[in-house]
Amino acid sequence: MQAIAVFPSKKSLQLVDIPQPKLQGATDVLLRVREVGLCGTDREISSFEYGSPPPGSDHLILGHESLAEVVEVGRGVHSLRPGDLVVAMVRRPCPHAECRPCRAGRPDFCVTGDFTERGIKGADGFLAEHVVDDEEYLVKVPRVLADVAVLVEPLSVITKAADQARSIFDRLPYDPGLQRGLALGAGPIGLLCAMVLVAEGFEALVYSRDSEESKPAELVRSLGAHYVSSTRTPVESLAERSGRFDVVLEAVGFAPLMLAATQVLKANGVLALTGVPSQAATAEVNAGRALRNLVLRNEVVFGTVNAGRRDYLSAIQHLEQFMVLFPESVHKLITHRVPLDEVPQMLTQKRGIKNVVEMNRAA
Ligand code: BGC
Repeated sequence: MQAIAVFPSKKSLQLVDIPQPKLQGATDVLLRVREVGLCGTDREISSFEYGSPPPGSDHLILGHESLAEVVEVGRGVHSLRPGDLVVAMVRRPCPHAECRPCRAGRPDFCVTGDFTERGIKGADGFLAEHVVDDEEYLVKVPRVLADVAVLVEPLSVITKAADQARSIFDRLPYDPGLQRGLALGAGPIGLLCAMVLVAEGFEALVYSRDSEESKPAELVRSLGAHYVSSTRTPVESLAERSGRFDVVLEAVGFAPLMLAATQVLKANGVLALTGVPSQAATAEVNAGRALRNLVLRNEVVFGTVNAGRRDYLSAIQHLEQFMVLFPESVHKLITHRVPLDEVPQMLTQKRGIKNVVEMNRAA
């Protein structure tokens, strides 16, 4: 069967022929992959800046945003049947006894760093016709979401961020009333942040470098949210122009903007960082002022990565809600569906908003 693999030592990305996987353990599930979403992480891996093959292998099969159909289940599988649609969780636990999050089934909070991530770090991904995975890492999705369920994995990262922001708000000894939320970035993740904010009843605004006439800006307005372009309003004047925010969900990964984002928080506000900046990025900040404000205004800044099962379930519930509130906008997020052999091209020249690989589509 065919798959897409990156060979870091040869600096190549190619279509490969690999044997079809088979059930081995009692809780194994054989899946036919239907769709795989591509994201910035895949682009970084295919430019050899990130990621690693499984131990002993010279290549890594890409793909972590999956949607698959169950074909066959091992005799110990109880929650899934052939024909079910599933999304696979990405991160798998480290082997260390002392890692309490991994031992408790929350490798997204792993403290040793020795976790694996399918399609990213030390384990093959889902850009293959068939894959085998353990029942424990598969999340069932309702069939009515089939057209958009490939968004569950990226959305799970945001529902994890939003749910943590909510529990930070719960520390306040009063009801904060109608809250204002800001999404930084208008890529697929930024737009999903905007959808979460709108669905959760925030007055929402998206700030990004795309122009105010761009497709992402139009999509933002179709949600009933506001859009401000950084080409017209530098971040320093955003608070002055649009007011301050209770919650900021960052999805850009540009270090100077991530640091500047604290300037638009209301007192008691929360900033969740989800973008992964380059290690080489530097930015000038007035550290005294930034930290002084943080303390004197009870602000919270936190980073968050990956997601646990409850975040996937929350993502599925949010997606169901989005499909009631603004179904057309959700469909418009996925701008291109391409066959497997077009992946190398899609990874080098990004088009539109979300690019999805359709595994059963011939070129
Ligand atoms: C994935 C996460 C992963 C992170 C870091 C993101 O693109 O969605 O599941 O943890 O990259 O590797």
